Amino acid sequence: MILTEEKAKGRFYTPPNIVAMILDLAGYTGEGILGRHAIDNSCGDGAFLAEIVDRYCRAARSVGYTSERLALELGTFVHGIEIDAAEREKALLRVAETARRFGVEPTGWDIRRADALTPNGFEGRMDFVLGNPPYVRVHNLSDSYDAVRRFRFTRSGMTDLFLVFYEIGLGMLRPGGTLGYIAPSSLFNSRAAADLRRYFIEKNLIRKVVDLKHYRPFGASAYTAVMILRSGTGEPTEAAYYEYDPAGGEAFHVSDLAPSDFCIGGNFRFGPKPALARLAKIARADLKSAPLDVKNGLATLCDAFFIGELPFESHVIPVVKASTGRRARCLFPYDENGHPLPYAELACDGALDAYYRAGEPRLKKRALVGASRWYEFGRTQGIADVYKKKYSVCSIIREPNDLKLTFCDRGTGVYGGLYILTDLDGAILKDLLYTDDFMDYVALLGKYKSGGYYTFSSKDLKRYLASRLAEREGRR
Ligand SMILES: C[S@@+](CC[C@H](N)C(=O)[O-])C[C@H]1O[C@@H](n2cnc3c(N)ncnc32)[C@H](O)[C@@H]1O
Repeated sequence: MILTEEKAKGRFYTPPNIVAMILDLAGYTGEGILGRHAIDNSCGDGAFLAEIVDRYCRAARSVGYTSERLALELGTFVHGIEIDAAEREKALLRVAETARRFGVEPTGWDIRRADALTPNGFEGRMDFVLGNPPYVRVHNLSDSYDAVRRFRFTRSGMTDLFLVFYEIGLGMLRPGGTLGYIAPSSLFNSRAAADLRRYFIEKNLIRKVVDLKHYRPFGASAYTAVMILRSGTGEPTEAAYYEYDPAGGEAFHVSDLAPSDFCIGGNFRFGPKPALARLAKIARADLKSAPLDVKNGLATLCDAFFIGELPFESHVIPVVKASTGRRARCLFPYDENGHPLPYAELACDGALDAYYRAGEPRLKKRALVGASRWYEFGRTQGIADVYKKKYSVCSIIREPNDLKLTFCDRGTGVYGGLYILTDLDGAILKDLLYTDDFMDYVALLGKYKSGGYYTFSSKDLKRYLASRLAEREGRR
């Protein structure tokens, strides 16, 4: 994949109303900001710094600062770091132009061209750390991969540069200082961010959260949330949770939440308090005694080869695409227990052998997970359950009626989604799943997809069904 400059550097710029919202929520307002240090440690072309300078000038003029004093303080209390020389130049021009509107021409701006990942002397000194850090998956990082891995919250799993910037930003705060970032909301539930979430809770850092949900201010890039963190007070406090109204361009308050309300199963879930209480109850569902299991469907890693109009009859099973409920034919090189057949047995059918030989080069390009031979599916999931009764389920919905639950008899495979293994009647499952209650649950999980859709995992679905079935039986 060719990375655009935007993707490689995480360069997506923040619209002015979002900048203003973050500064308001962080309390970077009024005369109280005078004499306080503020930094954007990945300042790009200066969207945050321009607003910071504007507010500083306004506050200073309102209390009668002279131009000399204001010029000196802008150079002392406003700080920026940017790795890209051209972007830094733009930021310098932008802050200078803002100051000029207040009749001030500072000469010594502290906007540095530097890598924020290296120590820079700001540690423990800032009253405000504000900005929109770069979002770059570590596998897309060429130069700084090793530097990123050295940070505390990025040692494990698929990680992202924005997590490092939380660590760097918190490190720059003095006790009682405030950090305000807009960054991917995957922070709430990704495995890579699990340690960071735990740290936020342990240190009682979270003060405000705005989930922008499906609204993406940076076009088709990440789903984001604003987090306002306060360092060093330690006292347990509630966090104010807001949602964002894209039409009005403003955040609106939804609820005040204790960490025990929004930290559910190690993830962060935000919403009205009663809805979160229900979510927490579902998260505690007893999965062991549930009369069902939910799993991921077949993954051939080359559907165009295995599924479709196949020019042979042997070793073919019917399959259902869980996302649509559509049926198709699938080459299935396994026995009824899910064990791979020897190739020689498959090759007894000349047409099948010819088909495999023609497909061999592309099948060998797949990165097999669990499977050991080139003619098998790319992954082993779902194979052992083909000869069991089940229901396929799509894993992405926008409203209750988007759900697709399809009965799949023994011998029918499921791909492109999830399946429920159970002896329960399909009508019971339909009763539970084609409901606003299930939709509300999925929306609260906060796994956004484009077009207003939400996705959910096999575990999410299993928990929901286990909890609702237990409720029906009066066990909880
Ligand atoms: C998402 S942009 C945000 C820019 C600006 N804060 C805004 O909101 O408009 C992130 C910026 O971080 C810069 N950047 C990436 N890695 C950096 C690093 N290691 N140190 C400093 N800046 C970095 C990129 O060049 C880019 O300009």
